[in-house]
Amino acid sequence: MIKTRYNITLDTSDYVAFKALIFKEIGIELGDSKQSLVQTRLLKRVVHHKLESYGAYLELVKRDPVEKNEMMNLITTNETYFFREQAHFDFLSKELEAYAKSEKYRIWSAAASSGAEAYSISMLCDSFLPKTGWEVIGTDINSDVIKKARMGLYPEKWVDKIPLNLRKKYCLKGKGRHEGQFLVDRSLAKNMHFSVNNLMLVNREIGTFNMIFLRNVLIYFDANTKKKVVENVMHNLAVGGYLIISLTESLQNIEIKNLKQLNSSIYQKIA
Ligand SMILES: C[S@@+](CC[C@H](N)C(=O)[O-])C[C@H]1O[C@@H](n2cnc3c(N)ncnc32)[C@H](O)[C@@H]1O
Repeated sequence: MIKTRYNITLDTSDYVAFKALIFKEIGIELGDSKQSLVQTRLLKRVVHHKLESYGAYLELVKRDPVEKNEMMNLITTNETYFFREQAHFDFLSKELEAYAKSEKYRIWSAAASSGAEAYSISMLCDSFLPKTGWEVIGTDINSDVIKKARMGLYPEKWVDKIPLNLRKKYCLKGKGRHEGQFLVDRSLAKNMHFSVNNLMLVNREIGTFNMIFLRNVLIYFDANTKKKVVENVMHNLAVGGYLIISLTESLQNIEIKNLKQLNSSIYQKIA
């Protein structure tokens, strides 16, 4: 194991204990190759608490829920960008265009990270359903990214992924202390809600959705956890509604009741 400049290293027995805790709490399966990464990511917390070892930090995490949350925030990988995997936004646009009911159209960005996915969805909802009404809920286990999502403020270069017409309509260039950033139009936020939640649990309180985006998160789970997470979110999917996973993920060999595969990454709930 690489020695840090603080001369504190994460030894294998403590790594195994961290791995087990992370797996139990949020389902993420860390391979043996991630020991250095975990050591690097958690070092600042060990130093912050002036602890002498990762073992002492583990004990702190076990008895302090606030620190456990800090630790989870450092462990998750939150890469995201606007209009990631365009095919899914083309599918969504077609659905919204054809939507003729009077009830609100509801979409869940499960594992929303800092909100680029949820705002991309909202821009389309607002464009296609200005009258019917819509609601987008974004959730994530990581409380830091959820705070960012609520602000809707992003580095300027992220705007490049947003189609020009939507960019003009919904993105406001930052000035003064927000130079180099852009803000997503706050009018969208009126129909959006961001909260912390764990996909390892059933989340009934957020209600039922016409579409659920569950993208680029299954990749961190083993087969049993994938099944559990998909079964959990199925409680929130309306019959006839769609579940979307990433183009790079798969539910192959995972039996989920009442879920019909439409193509490699889009599924529909059947009665
Ligand atoms: C790579 S990001 C994907 C963001 C977005 N869906 C996209 O495709 O761009 C994966 C997100 O899953 C979240 N995550 C990991 N395990 C989770 C769990 N058990 N419950 C809820 N969110 C989780 C992470 O915090 C992270 O923000």
